[in-house]
Parts: sequence; C-alpha cells; structure tokens
Amino acid sequence: MAENKVRIAVLVSGGGTNLQAIIDSQQNGALHSGEVALVVSNNPGAFALTRAQRANIPTVTLTRRECGGAREFEARLTEVLEEYGVELIVLAGFMTILSPAFTARYDRRIINVHPSLIPSFCGEGFYGLKVHEAALRKGVKVTGATVHFVNEIPDGGEILLQKAVPVEPGDTPETLQRRVMEQAEWQLLPAAAEMVCAQILSERNP
Ligand code: GAR
Repeated sequence: MAENKVRIAVLVSGGGTNLQAIIDSQQNGALHSGEVALVVSNNPGAFALTRAQRANIPTVTLTRRECGGAREFEARLTEVLEEYGVELIVLAGFMTILSPAFTARYDRRIINVHPSLIPSFCGEGFYGLKVHEAALRKGVKVTGATVHFVNEIPDGGEILLQKAVPVEPGDTPETLQRRVMEQAEWQLLPAAAEMVCAQILSERNP
C-alpha cells in the first residue's frame, strides 16, 4: 500500500453500493489521495463484505453482541483501526451510532453519507428507507444527500457536500432511494473522501 496515501476504513452494514462507489473511484483514479485499507461490517451477512473481498480489501466483522456490548465493540473497533493504520473512517451505510468518546477520538476523521438534505429528515431513527418514507410523507419536491463530518450529534457534524435530487410523481421509498443514490450519494461520498484525504496529506507534508 502506497505511503503517500491516506489509509481509509469503510464501515458498512448492508448492500455496500456506497462502498462500491468508493472502490470504483479508487480504481478510476478520482480517489487518489487515499486508499481503502480495510472494510469493517457489523453485519456478518452484509453484501458489502463480498464487494470488499472481490476488490482484495481486507475485511473484519464485529458485532456488538459478540464483543459483549457497545463499549467493548468500540474498543475492539479502535484496536482494529490502529492495527491497520487507519487515518480516515468513512461510514457508508453503517447503521450504528458511535459514542461521543469515539467521535471525539477521531475528530474530523470520520465522514458519513446521509440520504437527505440535512437538516431535513436526519438524526436518530432516520436511516435507510425510513428517510425516504419520511420525505414522501412530508411531500417534499426536492430531497438529496449529504456528506458530513461525524461528531457527537447524530447527523450533526459539519457539512462537506450536498446535492439535491428531485422527487418524482409516483415515487416509492425504493425508487426515491435509488435515484438519491445514483444522482447524489455515489458521487458525493468518493468526492468527499478525496477532499478530506487531500487535506490530511497536505497537513502531513505542509
Ligand atoms: C445509503 O442510502 C446511505 O445513505 C444510508 O444507507 C444506505 C446504505 O446503502 N445511510 C443512512 O441512512 C445513515 N443514516 P449501501 O449499503 O448500498 O451503501
């Protein structure tokens, strides 16, 4: 693994389409200041693990239950991140809220993709399809995605990138989710990862 690249860990729980966007962006050179060194899943059945293995990226599966609780889970996660020399954590559909102690330890070193235009439809309880269900219930005509730094407030950290996506007549949560992923998330997350990695490199070699 190249020395002049930031080592990234991508944390996942599900299908891993955002992980795939990062892998693709690494392969086409758009993401060039960082390299995915590790994928961590808290769900042993996540298809994201298969995507990582296909790209020859090491994977670790860690569950709260197996670790014996939330605190033990984060302690083990920290050990694994240190073992792999990780400098940037990317939450890509990772469905667990991290503690204030963990987010403080990695201040401005964790980014997350959220499938709405924050501050709409965000915070505890808003994840995955629930976000799109809430947007459709409210009747908004425009939604989108946000990539932000992660701090102690769920979906409350500094916003890095946002992109708007139209809601179309007849949308279901599934069709809206797909459009938001295709038109926003898969572009924003790799772009934000590159932005933050370039910033970390510039701090490392001023
Ligand atoms: C994505 O839409 C992501 O924005 C969302 O879960 C999906 C994961 O899909 N994340 C959240 O809702 C976090 N609050 P993926 O596993 O295919 O990347």
